[in-house]
Amino acid sequence: MDAHSFIEFLNKPFQERLSSQYVFYQEQLKKGFMTGRMGSAPVDKHMAYKDLYSDAFHEVLVFGSNSYLNLSTHPYVVEKVCDAVRRYGVGTGGSPAFSGYTRQHHELELRLAKLAGHEDALLLPSGYVANLCWVNGLMTRNDVLLYDKHSHASVINAIKMTGVQFYPYDPDNLTAFAQLIKEVRSRRGDVQIFATVEGVRSNDGSVIELQTLLDLCQQENIFVILDDAHGVGVLGEQGWGTLEHLNLLGRADMRMSTCSKALGAQGAWVSGSRQAISYLRAYAKPYVFTTALAQPTVAAIQAALDVLENEPERRQRLHQNRQSLAKALTAAGFRVGETQSGMIPVYLPDGLAGRFNQRLYERGLFVNVMEYPMVAPGTERLRFSLMADHTQADMDRALAITCETAREFGLHVTATSDLAALC
Ligand SMILES: Cc1ncc(COP(=O)(O)O)c(C=O)c1O
Repeated sequence: MDAHSFIEFLNKPFQERLSSQYVFYQEQLKKGFMTGRMGSAPVDKHMAYKDLYSDAFHEVLVFGSNSYLNLSTHPYVVEKVCDAVRRYGVGTGGSPAFSGYTRQHHELELRLAKLAGHEDALLLPSGYVANLCWVNGLMTRNDVLLYDKHSHASVINAIKMTGVQFYPYDPDNLTAFAQLIKEVRSRRGDVQIFATVEGVRSNDGSVIELQTLLDLCQQENIFVILDDAHGVGVLGEQGWGTLEHLNLLGRADMRMSTCSKALGAQGAWVSGSRQAISYLRAYAKPYVFTTALAQPTVAAIQAALDVLENEPERRQRLHQNRQSLAKALTAAGFRVGETQSGMIPVYLPDGLAGRFNQRLYERGLFVNVMEYPMVAPGTERLRFSLMADHTQADMDRALAITCETAREFGLHVTATSDLAALC
């Protein structure tokens, strides 16, 4: 759906919206689009998906998972989880503010706080909830939030739910950001300003230049929250994320990250000063009123952190893979965006990304597609996500399928499927 049709759709009466969405969904199913697929087997680089409409099975090579380090199936992690199930069972039966908080949660929170150079942290059921948690818990309607215009949907929804005053900004244009701060100050006087930014941009994998932004915010007494969902485990010498990578550990006032991507599990955390975290424990409804993470999940996160420490070669392999594939796609003639993380964005001509992605899938390659309204019209792209366990042969195959598909759509590629020859 393009931007114009989407706005028209949103303006329809409720019943009409329901029925037209349903028709749209059925068409998507017929075409075998994302929402109409059901995976089987562990989440890994090879998966089988069943098309819900046709019942057909597709064996695919996965270049679209956030499990960058393949920790969700790591034998050590699996063993620790099984052990935790036997010891603690499978659920906590209460919110952390009531009966669900245990020593295991506490120990993990302290370990996670250290990753950002902070004093304390709190655990939440997902990254989505973690973003709701800090917006809803820290801010009131009198506060102002300057948000990265590329922010994840969870931040945008949190803003709407909390009713806080908000202004978007572009972290790549800090002159305009400084001007925006001035305008807010002149209009709103001494109001408390918060700013949020993604360390690794989730829709293209680029790393934000944080130093100047953090300096400016410190100067202006702005409270900064970093969303490092795609940075933790991937960036930095120890895998502690964007702040470590940029030598800025401890510099953001608060950081959220998820355990569902490089750490291969589920859940998320928000870290900050002892005071700020204590404030959230008291006032953040998405923390107080939801059940604490199950202990096997806590064990999975602890085990993933052990692997992060003990097997740095996984991160190195991930980066080598990303560099090799990005180089090969560029050499083949694709428009590849600048990236230092676990993702590679590939820009396609207007209106092509969805159809292109569908053909990749039919040929046995699973890649994510970013289309409007996820990204601005005219910037649609494929997003390849790399894994540490991808081999040279996997990348050869991904490149060959992508080139074959490009030729089908009449795009000029000078492809060779021999990736090794290019690198
Ligand atoms: C930047 C960013 N923040 C937050 C989230 C939400 O994390 P989770 O999947 O753990 O809810 C995501 C997930 O896609 C993300 O990309």
